[in-house]
Amino acid sequence: MSLNPHLFVVLGATGDLFSRKLLPAIFSLMVDNDAKIIVLGVATRDLDDAAFQAVSRSDLAAAGIPSDDYDKWCEECLHYEQISTDGDYSELATRIEQVEQEHDLSGDRIFYLALPPRVFPEAIQRLGDAGLATSPGWTRLVIEKPFGRDLQSARELNSIVHSNFDESQVFRIDHYLGKETVQNLLVFRFANPLFEASWNRDRIERVEITVAESLGVGERGGYYDRAGALRDMVQNHLTQILTLVAMETPVVFEADAIRDEKVKVLRSIRGIDPTQVVLGQYEAGAVGDEPMTAYRDATDVASHSRTPTFAAIRLQLENWRWQGVPFYLRTGKAMKERTTQIAVTFRRPPICLFHGRADSCIEHSNVLYLTLQPDEGFSLEIEVKEPGESGRLRTIPLRFSYSEAFGDIPMAYETLLADVVEGDQTLFVRSDEVEESWRLYTPIVDNPGEPHPYPAGSWGPEAARDLLGSGVTNWATGPH
Ligand code: BG6
Repeated sequence: MSLNPHLFVVLGATGDLFSRKLLPAIFSLMVDNDAKIIVLGVATRDLDDAAFQAVSRSDLAAAGIPSDDYDKWCEECLHYEQISTDGDYSELATRIEQVEQEHDLSGDRIFYLALPPRVFPEAIQRLGDAGLATSPGWTRLVIEKPFGRDLQSARELNSIVHSNFDESQVFRIDHYLGKETVQNLLVFRFANPLFEASWNRDRIERVEITVAESLGVGERGGYYDRAGALRDMVQNHLTQILTLVAMETPVVFEADAIRDEKVKVLRSIRGIDPTQVVLGQYEAGAVGDEPMTAYRDATDVASHSRTPTFAAIRLQLENWRWQGVPFYLRTGKAMKERTTQIAVTFRRPPICLFHGRADSCIEHSNVLYLTLQPDEGFSLEIEVKEPGESGRLRTIPLRFSYSEAFGDIPMAYETLLADVVEGDQTLFVRSDEVEESWRLYTPIVDNPGEPHPYPAGSWGPEAARDLLGSGVTNWATGPH
C-alpha cells in the first residue's frame, strides 16, 4: 500500500498510549509501507526535539524494535512542541507550518487525541479556534475512547466535534475494530453462505459474547474507578462485536453502508431490562498461581468503591432475524483466563436417531466458537456416531487456527492508523452509533447498584448464571 506523506500530530505525546501503542504502530506503518510520516508530539511537559527523540528511542526499544532500524527516523522525523494547559493553539499552528515546510509536506494532517477524555472538548475547540480543522491538504481528527461518559456527555462532545469538524474528518477509535479477528466476522458471515443461511432465529438458540481478562485493574485504578466495566468495555468493545455479529448484509461493503447496518442493530434493542444485568467486583483470590488482592485494595481505588469490574447482560433484539434469541454480553477483570470469544449455540434437533434409543438422542447443540483472542480461530462442535453397534453420539470439534494458517497477525493500531491515512472510516465509530450505544447503557451506569462479589480467578459472580434462563445450566464459554 502506498500511503500519502503526512504530518501526524499527537496531542498527549508524553502519555502511556503514545509510548506503548501509537509510536510502535506509527513506526511499523512507516516501515511496512515505505511511507513518509513526520510526527509532531504535543504535550505540556518541558521537552525539546532532542529530549522527545531520546524518550521515543527507549519506547521503541521497549517495544522490541532493533535500534538500527529507528535511530535515523527518530532523529529526522520526530519533533516536539510544548503547549500550556490553558493557552490557545496559535503557536502550535505556526509550528505545524514550519515542520511541514522543513519536510516539504503538502498539508495532509492527522490530529490524534491521546489525551485524558475530560480534556477532549477543550482540545477540539482549540484546534477549531486556531484554524486547524482545515489545511491545504486533508485534516483528520482521531479520538480515543471513551467517547463520553453517558448519553448526554456523548451528545455534547459530538456537538463540539461537529461545530469544528465535518463527520467525514472524524475517526472515533475502538481498537477492537482493528483486530483482524473482529474484522473477519464480516467475512466469516457474508462470504460463507453455509453460516449466513443459518444465522437467524430459526437455527440459533442463543449468542454469547465474552471478553474475559485475567489481569486485574493494575496501576490504572484512578481511571478505572471512575469508569468501571460498563464504560470501559461494554459500551464500546463488546457492543461493537455485537453489532458485527447481528447486523444485516450491507448493500455495499463501504463505510457508511456498514455503519448504517450496525446502527440498526442498536436501534432494534428497545432498552435493557435492569433485572437482566448482573454486575460484579472482584475480591482477593488467585489467577492461576498468582495471588491477587481485592479490587478495593488496588492503587487509587476508593476503599468502599462500588465500581463494577464484571458485567453480564442479557439483550433482546427486536427484529425479524433475531426476535426471541437472547444475546449475552459478559466481561470481567481478574477472571480465570483471558479469552475473547463468541459462542453461537444452534437449536437442537428434536429427535432421537435410532428408534428412540435414549443414548442416540441428541443432547448437545452444535456450538460455533469464534475465538477472537488469544488463540485466534474457530471451532464448530458437531455430533458424530461412535464406531460400533452402540449408536451412541459423540461431540467433536472442527477447528481452524489463524496462527497455523497465517502466522503472525498485524497490530490493531497499525491497521487503524493505515485506515486513517487512507480516509477509510469503516472501522471507526460514527456519531449516531456512539449515541445509540450510550442510550442503551446510560440507565445502568446511572444506577448500577451494589456489585456482586466474586473471587479473583473465577468466572465471575454465580448470579450471572441466572441470566441464562431455564434449561441452560452454564455459559458456553468458560467452565463446563
Ligand atoms: C481497553 C480497556 O480499552 O481494552 C482496558 O480500557 C482493557 O481496561 C483493554 O484491558 C482490553 O484490550 P485487549 O486488546 O487487551 O483485549
